[in-house]
Amino acid sequence: MKQYQHYIGGQWTDPASSRWFDTTNPYDGEVWAQIAEGNANDVAAAVAAAKAAFEGEWGALTATARGKLLVRLAELIERDAARLGEIEVRDNGKLIAEMGAQTKYMAEWYRYFGGLADKIEGAVIPSDKPGIFNFTRYEPLGVIGMIIPWNSPLLLLSWKLSAALAAGNTVVVKPSEFTSASALEFMSLIEEAGIPPGVVNVVTGFGKDTGAALVEHPDVAKIAFTGSDISGQKVYESAAKQIKHVSLELGGKSPNIVFEDADFEAAVMGAISGIFAATGQTCIAGSRLLVQRSIHDAFVERLVEVAKTATIGDPMSMDTHVGPVTTPPQYRKVLDYIDIAKSEGANCILGGGPYDGPGAKGSQFVSPTIFTGVNNRMRIAQEEVFGPVLGVIPFEDEAEALAIGNDINFGLAAGVWTRDIGRAIRMSERLRAGTVWVNTYRAVSFTSPFGGYKRSGLGRESGIEGIREYLQVKSVWIAQETSVANPFIMR
Ligand code: NAI
Ligand code: MG
Repeated sequence: MKQYQHYIGGQWTDPASSRWFDTTNPYDGEVWAQIAEGNANDVAAAVAAAKAAFEGEWGALTATARGKLLVRLAELIERDAARLGEIEVRDNGKLIAEMGAQTKYMAEWYRYFGGLADKIEGAVIPSDKPGIFNFTRYEPLGVIGMIIPWNSPLLLLSWKLSAALAAGNTVVVKPSEFTSASALEFMSLIEEAGIPPGVVNVVTGFGKDTGAALVEHPDVAKIAFTGSDISGQKVYESAAKQIKHVSLELGGKSPNIVFEDADFEAAVMGAISGIFAATGQTCIAGSRLLVQRSIHDAFVERLVEVAKTATIGDPMSMDTHVGPVTTPPQYRKVLDYIDIAKSEGANCILGGGPYDGPGAKGSQFVSPTIFTGVNNRMRIAQEEVFGPVLGVIPFEDEAEALAIGNDINFGLAAGVWTRDIGRAIRMSERLRAGTVWVNTYRAVSFTSPFGGYKRSGLGRESGIEGIREYLQVKSVWIAQETSVANPFIMR
């Protein structure tokens, strides 16, 4: 069986513990590879390699040279998109139908940030102090620790990695213990692109030891984390002890709000894509569907009709729409939430349990599930399920839609479906979320900042804002004459 070692300082390295753990294919439950179980010693070796690269070869490169390497990497990703996509399908259960395009698109992050690398400019400050020249320069932070979840392993890594490398940092990656393979396979492209050894390192293992050791390491300047709010909070608390930089992308419970004047069919498709795409395992899932009461019954009827056409089954088949849940604990969590919703009195009108119909294999399929009669105080309306489970909440008017939409601890995204331009503007201004989509859903790009309000996190990824998260600004003062008038008072 294939064994994946750590990747440290450009070398494939056995785990210090000599321990390995299995990674499975969620579709059939089969173990297909073994992953190195990292501990604090492996993390220390990787951080040392990253620090040496930062202080050495990588740190000496011009921003233009770094940018060229990232553009080269983008080309290699495009060349190998099919191979990389297949690894995600095998390890994660993502749909092959989605992965080909997603992996190709991922290359654009490296191209965008590669191009941006030498366009980060400081300023000459019009100083109020005669005879002193003052300017700012943007500098990398140093070694960045990246902690990645299982739902879109390579894409979410790339959002971070592209910006961090363009800014001149070096990196230690800790992938999810459920989906480590793609990050490791990706290292061959990093090498081929000509990115020097030690610039990107991967240490695999579990969150509570490998992940925690990375957060605690004193030479790690920043942690970039995507995952659950619970783990994100632990990371934040731990990083606070050393006043580390932190960015957190912590998921959500996003309202997808349909008004009676919306394009009915487009809104139905938007609601479906918001919750059943990627088997509902996306941080931006539109898992709270708010529907104006006047169209509620007709909308729900059509929603069920379309949801029933979803082909469930082998993620490796181009015809599949909904695949398995990625991890066994996640499978149990989704089923638990279905039970919770039922016990709270929500009305299950589709699915409502495990799926064992045509196409099912293994034991991680959940039926696409829709609950009506949900009120916003129920746990199914307030907590992130991260699965194909939708709660429908009726509302009377715009004011009530806004009140319900914002009555949540999270704030990652929101959707609005309306033909009224004034309402579109009002809603987009008043919804407390880092992304608002009007008459579309699930659009993201390397060009546009992405991140959370409230408990959905801190910081932004992608767009010009994305690179700022990996830089710090320095103010430099240079006196034209060296005399110091009075050394005892501030200049
Ligand atoms: P998690 O948040 O526990 O794991 C994410 C990453 O953090 C993994 O690499 C994990 O090893 C690491 N990690 C966990 N605890 C850590 C710690 N104390 N210190 C350092 N690193 C740590 O997410 P998990 O267990 O994979 O899924 C649990 C729930 O998280 C899901 O049910 C879902 O609700 C949510 N989730 C949200 C995602 C998002 O994109 N916002 C992505 C994946 C999961
Ligand atoms: Mg796996």
